Amino acid sequence: MIRSTYFRAAAVLALALVSLPTPGTAQRPDTTTFTPRFEAVAETRLLMEGMVHSNYRSLDKLLKKKPTDRETWVFARGQAILVAESGNLLLLRPPKGTGREPWMKLAMEMRSQAVTVARAAAAKDHAKSVQGMAELKTSCIRCHQTFRVDVKLDPAPVPGETDAE
Ligand code: HEC
Repeated sequence: MIRSTYFRAAAVLALALVSLPTPGTAQRPDTTTFTPRFEAVAETRLLMEGMVHSNYRSLDKLLKKKPTDRETWVFARGQAILVAESGNLLLLRPPKGTGREPWMKLAMEMRSQAVTVARAAAAKDHAKSVQGMAELKTSCIRCHQTFRVDVKLDPAPVPGETDAE
């Protein structure tokens, strides 16, 4: 009795080993078990400067008055989309501990506000774009306040400074 259980267990094990894929002979990637690993590479500060703030600032400037040509609208829409996409990147770098959840929510809020601006720009709706920018800015400030980041948005332009335009 004990012996037959033992043999059965051994047989099951052997079967399991046989059915294991041999390395290098897999026909197609096993999409059911492969989990890509996302990894934050840039410092949050660099992301803010290079992606979030640069696009935000230029967008703000572009929308100061109603764009008259299609290219400007297309460009504005693109910049808003890049701000929105940065929201996804922020999701990869929450602080540890209790700050995690508020961070995620605030990053998602920024993403959705930026999408609203992008949609308004795609529709060439100036009033909605401007309104969207105000709400986007509020979402930036909300996160900075929550995490006590001392940053003032829309500083007076520094002479000689060039924007990402
Ligand atoms: C989810 C939180 C979060 C959101 C949303 C957010 N920020 Fe930030 N921001 C930070 C943090 C954290 C820092 C500080 C990074 C550091 O210095 O390490 C920062 C720093 C900055 C800085 C200063 C960078 C520097 O050179 O020191 C600017 C400018 C900035 N953010 C602009 C923006 C703008 C514009 C938006 C909205 C479009 C925005 N941020 C939305 C978290 C956020």
